[in-house]
Amino acid sequence: MMQTIMQSDMQTSQLACNSAVFGIGGEVMRLAIANAKGGVAKTTTSMYLAATIAHRGGRVCVYDADPQSSASLWADAAGDAGDALAFEVRPANLSTLSHLAGDDVDSWSIVDAPPQGKMLQASIHAADFVLIPTSDSPLDLQQAWAMLDEALASRPAAILVVKAEPATVAFRETMHALGEAESPRFDTVIPKRQQIKKALGTNPVNLYEYRDLLTELEEIARDLSHGEEE
Ligand SMILES: Nc1ncnc2c1ncn2[C@@H]1O[C@H](COP(=O)(O)OP(=O)(O)O)[C@@H](O)[C@H]1O
Ligand SMILES: [Mg+2]
Repeated sequence: MMQTIMQSDMQTSQLACNSAVFGIGGEVMRLAIANAKGGVAKTTTSMYLAATIAHRGGRVCVYDADPQSSASLWADAAGDAGDALAFEVRPANLSTLSHLAGDDVDSWSIVDAPPQGKMLQASIHAADFVLIPTSDSPLDLQQAWAMLDEALASRPAAILVVKAEPATVAFRETMHALGEAESPRFDTVIPKRQQIKKALGTNPVNLYEYRDLLTELEEIARDLSHGEEE
């Protein structure tokens, strides 16, 4: 069970996206995928998570809030190759993010956040929960912790270790440092995989550990919604 920090004053998970036709029946969340550092699989995690939700029959929309537009380019490339994604990717600006709470309570929203600035703040504020991916390098942890502190000032948040090489000293040191600091983190770790690295512009076929990540997120969504009822 993930160690996490909950907030009592969470907003209702009201989502605006009509990208898919299925209802998952369970709780949904607005997620921001955020880290000031580039190359830590923010976009990859946004897209795999969305693919996993869609695969389970859930409704989901990815909001591309990064000026690099990687998520949108990914979706366009998949469409151009005749392999259109099972979910929608929408460009997001400050206005889009401030209206993320719409009238659709059955859809997940995933914001692929930019590294800095107003749009990063808006991405966090638009979210029920902030997921902070970081590599298994102890050096990268400094930026993940800075992002964690920023996120936790207003939202529940947790670190996800990605691109991990579990047999290495760096991996063990990273996990040890996270444990020592009692940082909220997901039990799921996403290993470094060639298939994931090559997935840009395609519909992810094998969803790997992102399935376990979604299971953890569903549990968090349930906890957050029960917290609201109390
Ligand atoms: N689990 C993984 N295994 C191997 N490569 C990965 C994995 N996740 C992401 N990558 C690669 O890492 C690079 C950065 O990922 P990206 O999602 O673009 O990061 P960000 O959005 O944080 O800049 C990309 O080349 C991507 O394919
Ligand atoms: Mg990106």
